[in-house]
Order: sequence, then C-alpha cells, then structure tokens
Amino acid sequence: MSEHSSTSAQKASIGYTAYMTAAVRAHESLREDRLFTDPWAAALAGAEGERRFRQLEDAGGSIIVRTRFFDDFVQRIVNEQGIRQLVMPACGLDTRAFRLEWPPAMTVFELDQPDVLHYKEGILQAQQARPGCRRHLIPADLTETSWPTHLLEAGYDPALPAIWLVEGLLFYLPNEAIHQLLGLISKLSAPQSWLAFDAIHSAMTSSPLTRQRMERVSRLGVPWIGTIDDPVSLLASLGWQATVTSTARKGYEYNRPVYPFISSDQLTPETEKLYHWLVTAVRQSQVVQQG
Ligand SMILES: C[S@@+](CC[C@H](N)C(=O)[O-])C[C@H]1O[C@@H](n2cnc3c(N)ncnc32)[C@H](O)[C@@H]1O
Repeated sequence: MSEHSSTSAQKASIGYTAYMTAAVRAHESLREDRLFTDPWAAALAGAEGERRFRQLEDAGGSIIVRTRFFDDFVQRIVNEQGIRQLVMPACGLDTRAFRLEWPPAMTVFELDQPDVLHYKEGILQAQQARPGCRRHLIPADLTETSWPTHLLEAGYDPALPAIWLVEGLLFYLPNEAIHQLLGLISKLSAPQSWLAFDAIHSAMTSSPLTRQRMERVSRLGVPWIGTIDDPVSLLASLGWQATVTSTARKGYEYNRPVYPFISSDQLTPETEKLYHWLVTAVRQSQVVQQG
C-alpha cells in the first residue's frame, strides 16, 4: 500500500458512487430530450443506485452534463485523430464500450476496483450486452503504482497515442494521489495523446452555496477532498496543453440545471469555481516533465 492509498472501507464506499451515476444515466435515458441513451444503466444501478439517486441535489445534473460532454469528446477524437486506444481509469459502471459507435480495431481498457468490475460483468452478461470494440477489464487500485504494469500486460501500447478519460474520480482522492495518478498517466502517454477529466476547485469545498452537497457526500463516507485549482498549469507541468470549461457553462448549453443553481448571468470566474471543471488536454510533442 502506498502512502496515498485509501483504506478498504473508503474504497468500498466510493465503489457505491458508481451505482448512483448509473441511476442518473438511467433516468436521463428515459427523457424525450435525453442527451444520451444508456440501455444498461437501469440494470446496473439497481436498488442501491436508485436510493442514492433520490438524495441528489440536482437529479444528477452535473453527471448528465459531463457524460454528454465526454461522449462527444471521445467520439470526436477517435474520428478526427484516428486514435484506437481508450483508457478509462475508474470506469465504474460506464457502458461507453457498448453504447458508442467504434471504428474497427478500437480497444477500450477499463480499470476499477475488482468488486465493481465483477458486479458490472455479471449484470452485462445477464443482459447479453456485446461491446462494439475490443475490451479489457483491469482490476486496479488507482492510488497505487502497480496498475500501469497490468495495463501494459493487457496490451496497451505506450508508443501509440491514447485517449484517457478519468471521470468522476479525482475529487475523491487526496491531492497527492491525484498528482501521482496524473503523473503515471503522463508517463504512459505518447505525443498527441488526449486526456480528459472532471475535477473541482478548492472553493467548492468551503462555499456556503455548496455546503448541502459537501455535507451529503461526507455523510455517505465519500467526502470530496481532492482539488485542482489551476488545471491548465498543472497539466502544462506534466507536458499537456489543456482547455477548461465547467459543468455550469455546459449545463446552460445543454439545458440541464446544475447545482448550485444560479442564472447564467450570475456566472463569473468566481462562481464558476463552485462547479466541476471539464478538462481536456493534448500531449505535447516536446514533453519536458517537471519533477
Ligand atoms: C463516481 S464513480 C464514477 C464511475 C464512472 N467513471 C462514471 O462516471 O460513471 C467513481 C469510481 O471510482 C472508482 N474508484 C475510486 N477509488 C478507486 C481506486 N483507488 N482504485 C480504483 N477505482 C477507484 C470507484 O470504484 C467507482 O467506480
């Protein structure tokens, strides 16, 4: 166990958050104006996901927004850049391998805790779901440093560009573990790779406007502790050129309310810090890594 590792109780609690995100996708899939369709989300969410869904402040607005944003991002990069490796650390109950359109020779690597992957496969097999790409499942502790070896053993090629999608994870990790994970991802990424993640600003953890949410996640044993105040500078130090938007901004665009609710004319650089960053980045050709 490394010094940044979570305890097994913390990891089990974070595992259940995947049921909640599946429930959010199940509800969105039923809407006429849905931003995506996930045919397996309801089965994956189960009763536990539904129970957690009912406690959400915004019916999962930020999860809906990020799902659509990252769907569009991944599809665009695959189609425009010809990249054929997608790695999803903390994939949870994500079904992109099954529900998005993939070109031939596409490979998706999914990493999460063993229990989460085991549960997911049981449900997907019972549903007779078939992925539209090659798919490798890699049980992993992402706060440790051994997962890259398992990824390489599964066939990931570090000489070729890849897309990395780290969705719904970083704010659960201590900052040291975030930096370690992003550092390992960077070392495994060839030039012209792409990286996407959501993250939170430290202002979110202390603002009165977000207190209700912060108290709920703490009560559930999954406090939001990991913050990135300046994603562009952090990624630049690791050799990436990043672009940042937020769930607030995209929420207005997609017409989905995102907690804390404010009107679009109240969105300023200060209030935007109370929402999730949506970060995408491309790996530079000349990589000079610090540290
Ligand atoms: C909120 S869910 C997000 C899942 C998925 N990316 C999505 O958006 O639906 C967080 C996921 O992170 C995983 N996770 C948290 N800590 C982890 C760790 N140390 N190692 C591996 N997975 C971890 C949990 O098991 C869970 O599946």
